[in-house]
Amino acid sequence: MCGIVGYIGRKEAYPIIIKGLKRLEYRGYDSAGVALLHPEMVIFKKAGKVVDLEKVADPTKTSATIGIGHTRWATHGEPNDRNAHPHLSNSGKLAIIHNGIIENYASIKEELIKRGYHFDSDTDTEVLVNLIEEVQKKENTTLDNAVRIALNEVVGAYAIVVLNIDNPDQLIAARKGSPLVLGIGEKEFFIASDASPIIEYTKNVVYLDDQEYAVLNRDGSYSIKTLGNVEKSHEIQKLEFSLEMIEKGGFEHFMLKEIYEQPKAIEDSLRGRMNASQGWIKMGGLTEYSNKILSADRFIITACGTSWHSGLIGEYLIEELARIPVEVEYASEFRYRNPIIDEKDVVLAISQSGETADTLAAIELAKERQALIYGICNVIGSSIARASHAGSYTHAGPEIGVASTKAFSTQVSIITLIALQLAEKKGTIPASRVRQLLFELEGISKKIEETLLVDAQVKEIAAIYKDASNFLYLGRGVNFPVALEGALKLKEISYIHAEGYPAAEMKHGPIALIDENMPVVFLATNKSAYEKIVSNVQEVKARKGKIIAVVHKGDTHIRSLADHIIEVPETDEILSPLITIVPLQMLAYHIAIMRGCNVDQPRNLAKSVTVE
Ligand code: F6R
Repeated sequence: MCGIVGYIGRKEAYPIIIKGLKRLEYRGYDSAGVALLHPEMVIFKKAGKVVDLEKVADPTKTSATIGIGHTRWATHGEPNDRNAHPHLSNSGKLAIIHNGIIENYASIKEELIKRGYHFDSDTDTEVLVNLIEEVQKKENTTLDNAVRIALNEVVGAYAIVVLNIDNPDQLIAARKGSPLVLGIGEKEFFIASDASPIIEYTKNVVYLDDQEYAVLNRDGSYSIKTLGNVEKSHEIQKLEFSLEMIEKGGFEHFMLKEIYEQPKAIEDSLRGRMNASQGWIKMGGLTEYSNKILSADRFIITACGTSWHSGLIGEYLIEELARIPVEVEYASEFRYRNPIIDEKDVVLAISQSGETADTLAAIELAKERQALIYGICNVIGSSIARASHAGSYTHAGPEIGVASTKAFSTQVSIITLIALQLAEKKGTIPASRVRQLLFELEGISKKIEETLLVDAQVKEIAAIYKDASNFLYLGRGVNFPVALEGALKLKEISYIHAEGYPAAEMKHGPIALIDENMPVVFLATNKSAYEKIVSNVQEVKARKGKIIAVVHKGDTHIRSLADHIIEVPETDEILSPLITIVPLQMLAYHIAIMRGCNVDQPRNLAKSVTVE
């Protein structure tokens, strides 16, 4: 949430910052702003998107070679010009950009007001920049030391960058709980919430750890210290992705590109981890802690949103194949109760961004209680990946569309491999069944490619139901989480109310909603419960609901009952979510486009939820 960019070097900072902010807009797009040292402090900020900011930026004042920029997802204060970042200190000498929340801002603000400070915005960020100024004055110290002392006084999460009019050759950045990457160029530095604004200029990066701050100097020198004032040396890492991977590549929207990237993303997630003909599975993270994992009393899967849905599929897979009891917990609930968890538990934390605050807090709690943490993340070097004892990256490549698509399918394929490796080691299913599923998994990308061909047909269905007020999604077994995920996709990008339910639960309540205006999407590919699903379809038909059914190719029975069918290739039932989710992602996409919604940046949402 919130994207931050900073630059110091010999190039013009403004174009680098603007381009970077556009790449980070998925993190928040309520307002945007930049501060440049020209050498006077120049600030442009505007409610709305980065393009709106560009309209108000005075082109005669954008030639600075040092600056900071921000794209906001509002927490404290409405998304207006006044609350947009950067924020200035009362003296006008310091400008700050901030991602996160300062929880004790109210008491600090009260104290600062008593000392004569005034505030122009409703933000916690303006409080922080004035606290830094006050500390610097009171302690008569350098700015970096003042930043360090001030950050020791605040409670909450932050990634910040500070610009100082008295030192136009230095930027100061710090983080706790919100990500920050430093790009190390030739006598120039880039700072950003993720590496996408940096990749174009350098592949050399340093990931700041929590409670660390960096001082970046124009002469190319830099230092990193902990907030406890201990010098740190970080290895420079090489970025693994390319510029093309974060561009749209001919697609109109990132979401559509990412839907179409799923076959390749799944191949990438499986590469080097399995081979069906040779019959092996190698999940590095599992091997390292194999004793503890194989003797675990139970698995707890914790995640949020779409990642929580893949966790529900994981529950099904791990219990079915490896016979290990699994509980799936919303991270936001788990962290605030007093869960029974100890060293015999394994916690699987699933997160695309690896930065979700609730998931991170849930794993910290589980770690305190000695559980083993296995992270399944997409973003390399992310906070959750680093906080885990072991784990697997999903290798989906950068996911920019706010609605998660390829992250979901790669999470499901990784969990499938985990379940299979555990099953193989525990001997809970015959080796022949492991082999059969590996073959099926190896071929799943081809079947997803075939599934993508339903696009035009799904678009026609979307045109019929684009004005519906409600949608119901029904599935059974492993396809119940797919129903939840289909409903989430629709509501988050088209703003149509949608609910996912286990098909058999419909009669316990939701059936009351069904009339001729209610489209009901059935996931009807499960062989094991086929007759039961047919009965559920009949129940909806009897009440004149409109039936859109995802079925296997050649299904004639449901075809005769449904208003619309979407045929998908057949696969083993437990792998079917990898296929059945695709038409639901497309349905949400096309409906949202037809309703004029911004699918890549839906209202009120942000890609990486780094606040509670
Ligand atoms: C939905 C969506 C969100 C995320 C959730 C968790 O399309 O993207 O529900 O799945 O915010 O995010 P990660 O996976 O980054 O922890």
